[in-house]
Amino acid sequence: MLKTRFTEEFGVEHPIVQGGMMFVGRAELAAAVSNGGGLGIITALTQPTPADLAAEIERCKSLTDKPFGVNLTLTLSINPPPFAEYRQVIIDSGVKIVETAGSDPTKHVEHFKEHGLKVIHKCTSVWHALKAERIGVDAVSIDGFECAGHPGEDDIPGLVLVPAAADALTIPFVASGGFADGRGLAAALSLGADGINMGTRFMCTEESPIHDDIKRLIVDASERDTRLIMRQLRNSMRVAKNSISEEVVDILDKGGRFKDIKDLVAGVRGRKVYEYGDPELGIWTVGLVQGLIHDIPAAGDLVRRISTEAEEKLLGLVRNVVVDRVAAVRA
Ligand SMILES: Cc1cc2nc3c(=O)[nH]c(=O)nc-3n(C[C@H](O)[C@H](O)[C@H](O)COP(=O)(O)O)c2cc1C
Repeated sequence: MLKTRFTEEFGVEHPIVQGGMMFVGRAELAAAVSNGGGLGIITALTQPTPADLAAEIERCKSLTDKPFGVNLTLTLSINPPPFAEYRQVIIDSGVKIVETAGSDPTKHVEHFKEHGLKVIHKCTSVWHALKAERIGVDAVSIDGFECAGHPGEDDIPGLVLVPAAADALTIPFVASGGFADGRGLAAALSLGADGINMGTRFMCTEESPIHDDIKRLIVDASERDTRLIMRQLRNSMRVAKNSISEEVVDILDKGGRFKDIKDLVAGVRGRKVYEYGDPELGIWTVGLVQGLIHDIPAAGDLVRRISTEAEEKLLGLVRNVVVDRVAAVRA
């Protein structure tokens, strides 16, 4: 069993988190991950209203008696969702873990902490991770350049970001972006993380609510089949390579503004991809790690498999590198 500061402090069996995922992080998936011994997370803003979120949390409770969390992504927009109301629903629901992400979480963290919730803050740089530590979060999830969604603007891959975070932080943290199997978990632990957070890998599980054709497309895709869009706007997003993401890149390369791509990147179009299984209907998020995904297992089996593989990998390294070498020296 892999015990880390994260498993101990968050009361989970395996150091594996299913990160917040717009349109994907629903009760069935979160419960399946938690039942498998990981930490499943419902994505608050996938629910159209705070009342819908309350109902979704109740549904998740009916599917698992293990700890699960709720992601609150603090997007900056002209018409922001009623964050304070979503926050209150999370507090009132009795959920004990919340994952914040996006812009400055200070105000929300204060409220969550007042009510005894544990907060994991997702960020993409050591600087932001340290700021989160200072405002009192319990753990950080740090996303490398490989990740699906928003990798930030620093372009630091996990191989540097994870040990840099380990050197700087005193609170537990999970490495995120580019993880899909036991090798990845073993590597993250070796680099100093207390666990891993995965998004793309959990899209391809039985309980993930996206269309089967999209799951199969991810299994068939390679690590080269993503595109970074909106770099010019300093709001980079890693998404699937398709005609729409190419068009967005092209428009901005030619000097276009956000208003020129607004309709192409609309979330409502991305949701249709997952609903109807047509990858060309909009922009949809996926990470480089799709190149390492080869099956569509049950989420709980995946969590156990990754944990077991990582343990075997780490033990194997000790056996091969240390024990065998010592034996060779002694012989
Ligand atoms: C379909 C999808 C939707 C996502 N939506 C969100 C979101 O709403 N909020 C958030 O904080 N992260 C979101 N993420 C990022 C994940 O939580 C996680 O940080 C990221 O997927 C890790 O990289 P990986 O895909 O390589 O595992 C999303 C990821 C995916 C794949």
